[in-house]
Amino acid sequence: MKCRVCREPAVIDIRRHNANFCVEHFLRLCRDQVAKAVKDHDMLDPDDRVLVAVSGGKDSLAVWDILLELGYEADGLYIGLGIGEYSNTSGDFARTFATARGVRLVEVDLVAEHGFDIPTGSKAAKRVPCSACGLSKRHLFDKAALDGSYDVIVTGHNLDDEAAVLFGNTLRWQTDYLGRQLPVLAARKGFPKKVKPLVRLTEREMAAYCVLRGIDYIVDECPMAKGNKHIAYKEALNEVELGSPGSKHDFYHGFLARAVEKFAGDEGEDYVLQPCETCGAPTTNEVCAFCRLVERATGSTPGEQGTMSRTEGPPRARQKASREQ
Ligand code: AMP
Ligand code: FES
Ligand code: ZN
Ligand code: ZN
Repeated sequence: MKCRVCREPAVIDIRRHNANFCVEHFLRLCRDQVAKAVKDHDMLDPDDRVLVAVSGGKDSLAVWDILLELGYEADGLYIGLGIGEYSNTSGDFARTFATARGVRLVEVDLVAEHGFDIPTGSKAAKRVPCSACGLSKRHLFDKAALDGSYDVIVTGHNLDDEAAVLFGNTLRWQTDYLGRQLPVLAARKGFPKKVKPLVRLTEREMAAYCVLRGIDYIVDECPMAKGNKHIAYKEALNEVELGSPGSKHDFYHGFLARAVEKFAGDEGEDYVLQPCETCGAPTTNEVCAFCRLVERATGSTPGEQGTMSRTEGPPRARQKASREQ
């Protein structure tokens, strides 16, 4: 097995490119694929202040590393979700990376700052853990980016993630979600810009990237995500990819090139956002979804944890289904 570029011994085969690569040329390929995604989708300007949301997993540490290599000024953001040993270990990987590279890691701790952790808080609020977790992360990403005056938030979603989400949205024809499934969400209405520079790279490639760059990451999946549909969709697409390399790429990038616009009207732009009465974040309700979650998870209104127990009846009526990004 020889490298396509230099004919030296290769360390990885990439069937969708019908090629093998040595260490140097594989690492270059990863950087080039990120640079291409950034350019094609107008993700970043060279002087942007970038905040990379890092979970301690391979994808987010790899994208942070690649953006630093490409010369971006990129800080990290780690959110402690209080998921036992999993969170302790993943936080350590994020910190170790930041220290080794001499870069800044912003940390937000859900328990210390908002009075609940995902396992107990989601149960108290009667929400599926992944949904409470996703909602909390989105809110805290936005807040950290705005508080720190960052131009853009980067996440480590890769081609496997995006193809699996697209598969799920297509299976159910969730046309409003399809209209918004873009690798870039522009800043608007009080939300920061959000980008996914790994949409041209797979999970396997990101694992190889970390190993070859000597980046330690948490290998275990989140224990709360077991049985998640997303995992089943990934497995189904892996089967297809095995028989027909490049299918995942064509499915997702073909959607971006030829179909996403057709759903653009379905996302609905007619809703009105106003500041959350409690935290000021943009919301379609009086109180944003995160503050309502905090209230239900802790039994107190945000900012009052431990001082006052809420005695009113059920949570206040919703004006509309939440439309927070
Ligand atoms: P997930 O929702 O776990 O699939 O993660 C998707 C992306 O969200 C990751 O690639 C990270 O960029 C970001 N992320 C996930 N968990 C955290 C966390 N605890 N702190 C900061 N960013 C996170
Ligand atoms: Fe959020 Fe697992 S990381 S529920
Ligand atoms: Zn080579
Ligand atoms: Zn709020």
